Amino acid sequence: MALHSASVSSKLIFAPAGKEDHGQAEQFTRGALTRSDLDQASPIRQFHIWFEAAQRSGLVAHPETCCLATASLPSGRVSSRMVYLKELDPQGFVIYSNFGTSKKAQDLCTNPWASLTFWWEDLERQVRVEGRASRLTREESQKYFDTRVRGSRIGAWSSRQSQVLKPIRGDTGAEEDDGRKVLDAWVEETEKRFEGEQDIPVPDFWGGLRIIPESMEFWQGRQSRLHDRFVYNKKASADETVQEWALERLSP
Ligand SMILES: Cc1cc2nc3c(=O)[nH]c(=O)nc-3n(C[C@H](O)[C@H](O)[C@H](O)COP(=O)(O)O)c2cc1C
Repeated sequence: MALHSASVSSKLIFAPAGKEDHGQAEQFTRGALTRSDLDQASPIRQFHIWFEAAQRSGLVAHPETCCLATASLPSGRVSSRMVYLKELDPQGFVIYSNFGTSKKAQDLCTNPWASLTFWWEDLERQVRVEGRASRLTREESQKYFDTRVRGSRIGAWSSRQSQVLKPIRGDTGAEEDDGRKVLDAWVEETEKRFEGEQDIPVPDFWGGLRIIPESMEFWQGRQSRLHDRFVYNKKASADETVQEWALERLSP
């Protein structure tokens, strides 16, 4: 025992437990998933069913929250970040973002492959989506942009997403702020530019990105980490309009 505690003493976190008294990681016990529960033909239809179930359950505050991962080539360096799913259509999953300066934009310029991961904790469900990403047209992006509150439309124009904001320096060279003032100035500039205008055009560098799935996995947590997992893999087809999927159970 002494050996065990000595070996973990330098760790800031070790085997964190859930809220339970027994001090062990929580078990997943709320459901089970069998092949017959799933839509046999379409993972997108299946996602829609699960998404609506998450919304209806009242247990998942924002089921549209997901993690978007991209990877830069040739380095292979991966980056991921939370985003909101804004649209689902028969082709795929649409998110909105900056495609001028953000890291995702840089990654996607070199590599169109991307993934989305959803985690609906209180339902003990995870969904993974992998596919190629492509930008929506300006017209499509404008439709969504118009639904955003004015402040968010101004914000999209103002932010050079993920660029470093340099502190303002006074006459003595001392930093007068931490960089926020630069952003505030950009916002002010944009406010002036669109003063009195109700209709704001969507910026060229901003808009929708559709991830067109090649593979989708549905995961339901089970006791003892013996989870139920099913993956749909797109079958190769000469006809682009026909989408056929192979559905298989995966080992947890
Ligand atoms: C819950 C949540 C939702 C977010 N939704 C979006 C989104 O829909 N679009 C977006 O561009 N950034 C969103 N963000 C911010 C991103 O996580 C990220 O900071 C930003 O997109 C820059 O990332 P990048 O430079 O790696 O591309 C969200 C952050 C959180 C925490």
